[in-house]
Amino acid sequence: MTTSSPTKLATDHLDARLNDARSRYVERRPRSRALADEASEVLPGGNTRTVLHYAPFPFRVAHAEGSIITDVDGHRYVDLLGNYTAGLLGHAPTPVRDAINQALDRGWAFGATHPDEITFARLLVDRFPSLEQVRFTNSGTEANLLAIAAAIHQSGRSKVLGFEGGYHGGVLYFGDHREANVPHEFVIIPYNDPLALEQAFEDHPDLACALIEPLQGSGGCIPADENLLARLRELCTEHDTTLIFDEVMTSRLSPGGAQQLVDVLPDLTTLGKYLAGGMSFGAFGGRRSIMSVYDQDSTHPLGHAGTFNNNVLTMAAGIATLTEVLIDGILERTNQRGDHLRRELNAIFARTRLPMSVTGRGSLMAFHPTAGAIKNSRDLAGLDDRWRELLFFDAIDAGFYFARRGFIALSIEIDDARVQSFIEFVDNWAETLEASN
Ligand SMILES: Cc1ncc(COP(=O)(O)O)c(C=O)c1O
Repeated sequence: MTTSSPTKLATDHLDARLNDARSRYVERRPRSRALADEASEVLPGGNTRTVLHYAPFPFRVAHAEGSIITDVDGHRYVDLLGNYTAGLLGHAPTPVRDAINQALDRGWAFGATHPDEITFARLLVDRFPSLEQVRFTNSGTEANLLAIAAAIHQSGRSKVLGFEGGYHGGVLYFGDHREANVPHEFVIIPYNDPLALEQAFEDHPDLACALIEPLQGSGGCIPADENLLARLRELCTEHDTTLIFDEVMTSRLSPGGAQQLVDVLPDLTTLGKYLAGGMSFGAFGGRRSIMSVYDQDSTHPLGHAGTFNNNVLTMAAGIATLTEVLIDGILERTNQRGDHLRRELNAIFARTRLPMSVTGRGSLMAFHPTAGAIKNSRDLAGLDDRWRELLFFDAIDAGFYFARRGFIALSIEIDDARVQSFIEFVDNWAETLEASN
């Protein structure tokens, strides 16, 4: 082990290593490169989901099954990304495929109500402690928009409390680029900052709702302080402010979601991602007294449109996911595996003194190019991203895929052996980097 500082290591070696890694990536992926060029002709930037882009170009997938993704150049990757949490079940899970096939036999665009939406709604209401009623959408973004709309409509107030670094959809983002946000009257304060929280309610006693992720997912897998969540609950109750937990990502952290883990119940919960087995999905629900604004027989109802809200493939896939796949402790085991992985990775970085760390909870985690404490997005500003980029390309070269920004969401298909092989890869990577200094 060397005694030189991580900063020196970065300055001397990082750029050269990074250039090598990028060149190797490009050389080995001629087909993906050609498709990137072709895609740019018809899709701005060559893609249709911003987060999937990274320089020089993303590999393109030909096939995916279980825990393995194969790209168009024939490279195989262990998929540690799990479609940014929507792929919790792994690729092409048989019970979901069977349910979809059976639904296809019955027809798939009714323009009418059908029994499966009741069954799926019942499963969600029984699963998440704060849900009394639920509505379906096609995405987590829509779920958040409609939850906010319910709170505003019901309270007659207009202000929405959000948290820096929070991601609730492309039009509800409280990070660096907020230009595309819907024009609500937002009050945005730092995450995990008790004083700012007290101040926000003092300055704005008329908040319609507070929207928070119990763990900021896209913002870097930063868990909320549990005392702060409890205090937020108290403040919302005191001020008649609707507390909305965005559990689009965190609902996977236990069968009853993060709300069950931290024992704080919101008034409304928004859901998305994995709950329909990887099909397009979103939902929001909570107290009957608030959800009733969407009851068209109520005195002053709010509309909730959406051609595909009760689409039969999503409903069928969701039922199969909850009744046939996420059973018998499989979710708990996946989260335990994630806790183990995160602990081991942090132990490696602490041992080698690289300026890297991993935050998160359960099956959700993110690499950060810092060894310092991270309590909110302000701690992530101005970090040297080259470490994370090098890890990303070296991991791809070794056959592991996760998000370019360092995000990992384990699927149930990632078993102990795969976790162990990734730990060994990172261990070698860190040792080699340090030894080369
Ligand atoms: C916490 C959170 N909320 C909402 C969303 C938006 O969900 P969707 O992409 O389905 O619109 C996301 C997506 O990443 C998310 O992570």
